[in-house]
Amino acid sequence: MDIFECIKGRRSIRAFTSDPVREEDLKKILEAAIYAPSAGNLQSWEFVIVRDKDRKLQLARAALNQTFIAEAPVVIVVCANLARSGRIYGERGRTLYCIQDTAAAIQNILLTAYALGYGTCWVGAFREEDASKILKLPPDVRPVAIIPIGRPAERPAPRPRMPLDKVVHYEVF
Ligand SMILES: Cc1cc2nc3c(=O)[nH]c(=O)nc-3n(C[C@H](O)[C@H](O)[C@H](O)COP(=O)(O)O)c2cc1C
Repeated sequence: MDIFECIKGRRSIRAFTSDPVREEDLKKILEAAIYAPSAGNLQSWEFVIVRDKDRKLQLARAALNQTFIAEAPVVIVVCANLARSGRIYGERGRTLYCIQDTAAAIQNILLTAYALGYGTCWVGAFREEDASKILKLPPDVRPVAIIPIGRPAERPAPRPRMPLDKVVHYEVF
């Protein structure tokens, strides 16, 4: 798929069929994730793959009852490894770089999944403490995004974007 079509065709999907995610597709999606750039190439990301129905329901509840999360056959929780980035970059690594690293990995996940015919949604609204408990995350691993993945059961229209001239600034703001 052409990269521009991929970027412009992707949508947040919040309804999924029960069709499974093929193992080889999940591997491709995760491989794309780890090819994202990262500060100092420290790759300060961690991925928790959740298939268990009950655990998905718990995550959906932690995400303020966004029940579509539990509908998806696979959920990837992308986490930032604060210690890995912090060891080299200190506070900036712990609070900024590891979050940027995971964000880049997340976008690769969304785009690759779309190119393979899957729908995803970047879910950021969730109670972090609850998610950490559900997934038994160690103290220095922060959950950043919950990403349900499955075959889309809806075809949403594109969401509007602000025009370029509103957000692009030349030379100075
Ligand atoms: C940081 C972040 C957090 C988000 N959190 C949620 C969320 O909790 N629930 C949800 O349904 N969508 C969430 N979204 C998806 C956005 O609503 C969506 O990307 C935006 O409306 C644009 O639509 P599109 O992805 O279809 O282009 C989030 C997106 C980002 C980048």
